[in-house]
Amino acid sequence: MPGGTAPVHTSPGRVAPGPGRVESLRVLAALGRDPLAVGIDLYRRYGDLVRVPLPRGHELYLLCHPAHAEHVFVARQDNYVKAATYRPLKVFLGEGLVTSDGELWERQRRLIQPLFSYRRVAAFQPVMVSNVRRTLEQWERLRPGAVVDVSEAMSLLTLNIVGETLFGSDLSGPGARVSPSVTRMQDFAVTAMRNPLLLSSPMLGLRTTPGYRAWAAAVRAVNEVVEQVVAQRRANPRQDGPRDLLDALLEARYEDGSGISDQQLRDEIMTFLMAGHETSATALTWTLYLLSANPAARERLEEEVDSVLAGRVPEPDDLDKLVWTKAVISESMRLYPPFWTLERDALNDDEIDGVRIPAGSTVAVPPYLVHRHPSAWDNPEGFSPERFLPGRGAGRHRHAFIPFGGGRRGCVGNVFALIETALTVAMIAQRFRLDMAAGGVPRLQPTVTLRPLGGLRMVLRHRQGAQ
Ligand code: HEM
Repeated sequence: MPGGTAPVHTSPGRVAPGPGRVESLRVLAALGRDPLAVGIDLYRRYGDLVRVPLPRGHELYLLCHPAHAEHVFVARQDNYVKAATYRPLKVFLGEGLVTSDGELWERQRRLIQPLFSYRRVAAFQPVMVSNVRRTLEQWERLRPGAVVDVSEAMSLLTLNIVGETLFGSDLSGPGARVSPSVTRMQDFAVTAMRNPLLLSSPMLGLRTTPGYRAWAAAVRAVNEVVEQVVAQRRANPRQDGPRDLLDALLEARYEDGSGISDQQLRDEIMTFLMAGHETSATALTWTLYLLSANPAARERLEEEVDSVLAGRVPEPDDLDKLVWTKAVISESMRLYPPFWTLERDALNDDEIDGVRIPAGSTVAVPPYLVHRHPSAWDNPEGFSPERFLPGRGAGRHRHAFIPFGGGRRGCVGNVFALIETALTVAMIAQRFRLDMAAGGVPRLQPTVTLRPLGGLRMVLRHRQGAQ
């Protein structure tokens, strides 16, 4: 943990330590401004498990230890449902995989999980490669030393990749409208989630958030595209040609033999567009930043990419050999986990480390803190991809590294994300070196994902002697 090891203050039967009622109000106000600093401060002062009383008798528990993550996401996962804080997202993600719970979620997950197997996802390699290539070609056309906003470029790239894997070639037609609309929806969601009215009245909360009209228009635009593409595909199922997720979703059958409804299809497509885009973009952006800040790690990565690929385009099977590249990406997600906090609500009373967690409480398990826990990580703030090399993690708690969450509700797209990020980093490293345009560590913007505040401006240079 930054600044040293804090003691674990909890003991069986006790109420968890934490700020009193008055101080909690100050904590809550500060949470809106700088939640990461507040989390670190609470951990340092109170230990692994902190209780924060909220207005109207509600309680928030901050859980920082890897064993707590295992408890909530695996051992007692039946007792923890998506927290009320996710509810506003339902207004536009509907009952998609991220926001649904219970039987509906289980049925959907069973239908969708097989579509994200390694074999199926590896078949998207040509889509991933052609989109990365398009980005690199745009960069080739810029003068040497040009400055690019890497955060923006990675966001557009991953949106195009997830869009094309969903809709295939249809994206270049009506789907072209999707890209700016999804970005607008996402930016609005971030502002809206800070609106306190959202929790008590999602619709009212949304309507009173600035930018509501533009957001509603963006949702309509995406809905229209999705409906149009789905209707066309239902009318004319594709017999041959490259398969996309939409084909697979339309063909998938529940246990009773029925297919997915149009409404559910819309919700899942919206969900994939949102969940499968900014997360990967954030991981890529921080990886490029960390490589520029650590030239020796970058040189090692370039050497690996050159020797494994010898100038050709990477295939998914190359990933087994790109061990340093993958270790760098993992270390980047450890330091800057795209989903920096994960929250659940307790259905029934529970006990963690002997501390009572009352039914109805919200528990927050921030990967940002778990990934820095001193029980699992030496020099937690340091950049050290070596920790992720094969054979190096022995003895580390299984839930010390949770960028994709854990248990049944873990990320369904993790294989997709791992292939996509590794192919992208390798292809960029084959041709370019990116360095920070301005010195210093970028400031963090913990919204839904953990983005660099104001983007990430980097200077683009061709690699000398690139193969
Ligand atoms: C580096 C990239 C990614 C990261 C770090 C990431 C992280 C996560 C995490 C932490 C969760 C669990 C959320 C929770 O427990 O509350 C999650 C869920 C999910 N992710 Fe990802 N994700 C990434 C990429 C993707 C991609 C590429 C897709 C789809 C194409 C995707 C689709 C989903 C879906 C649908 C869920 C909900 C799963 C469920 O609840 O059944 N993610 N992701």
